[in-house]
Amino acid sequence: MRALTVVPGRPGSVQVGEVADPVAGRGELLVDGVALGICGTDREIVRGRYGAAPAGEERLVLGHESLGRVRAAPEGSGFAPGDLVVGVVRRPDPEPCGACAHGEFDACRNGRFTERGIKGLHGYGSEQWTVEADYAVRLDPSLEEVGVLLEPASVVAKAWEQIERIGSRSWFDPRRLLVAGAGPIGLLAALLGMQRGLEVHVLDRVERGVKPELVAGLDAAYHTGGLAEAAARIAPDVVVETTGAPRLVLDAITANAPYGIVCLVGLSADRTRVPVAAGALNREIVLENDAFFGSVNANPRHYALAARALSWADRTWLARLVTRRLPLERAAEAFEERVEDVKTVIDL
Ligand code: BGC
Repeated sequence: MRALTVVPGRPGSVQVGEVADPVAGRGELLVDGVALGICGTDREIVRGRYGAAPAGEERLVLGHESLGRVRAAPEGSGFAPGDLVVGVVRRPDPEPCGACAHGEFDACRNGRFTERGIKGLHGYGSEQWTVEADYAVRLDPSLEEVGVLLEPASVVAKAWEQIERIGSRSWFDPRRLLVAGAGPIGLLAALLGMQRGLEVHVLDRVERGVKPELVAGLDAAYHTGGLAEAAARIAPDVVVETTGAPRLVLDAITANAPYGIVCLVGLSADRTRVPVAAGALNREIVLENDAFFGSVNANPRHYALAARALSWADRTWLARLVTRRLPLERAAEAFEERVEDVKTVIDL
């Protein structure tokens, strides 16, 4: 079968080539790949800046935003041929640390977790793949066209869960949300904010095209320009920063409202140094009971929350998030970054 592979650490090594057909082990599903979403993490791996192949192997099968159809399922697994499934990305560390021992492996404490298509485990970027039934999530058949958005939506569902848990440390009645970045994660964060009845604002550098249209489609407000200025106008109760751009990250932390929560979900690839007035920042954070935190990955509870959020959303709106579809043989094109793109999907 064909698979999308890369040698981690070696830029320019991405290719579509033949690999051995997968064989389902005990308790595993054999799945026909339907589609694969590409995100910033995949681009980082392709640029040689992130990722690790399985122990003893040179190449890593890329891909963690999966969608497939079960071809064969073990008796009693709860799955049947024809089911639409998405594979969970992370597996707990072998030790396991306290978080992994409690099923909260998205919060692994020792960094020895593995991730399909990212760190130490082959991904879902192949014509067929296998997945342990315990790490497969069944999707409503009506979500087939947009099912590839479940993994990014799970990351956002986790972020929202954490925001709400942090907010509930005291009185919490958020009204306004500011999202930095109108990529897939930002737009899904905005969607989940709308579903919570918030007044939603999305900030991006792109001035026209599908991003402002998608924000308008949610009945949210679209802004360009600086985050500090936008935050001063909006006074958001919650900021979700999805770009990882150093300036925006710092502005998000400094410009939030008293008792505001800033959730950082963007991974910075930028090594720019931004000077910080640490003393003034400290005073502001303490005197305003501000909170900022990072959120990554998701466990099966978050996938379930994400599946529910997607099922409530307008399918046409969700489908518009996919701005580019490529056949597997043209997968290399998916890694060219274009600012006007939202989600690029490879058809398997
Ligand atoms: C994935 C997460 C993963 C993270 C870091 C993200 O793109 O969605 O599941 O934990 O990268 O590897």
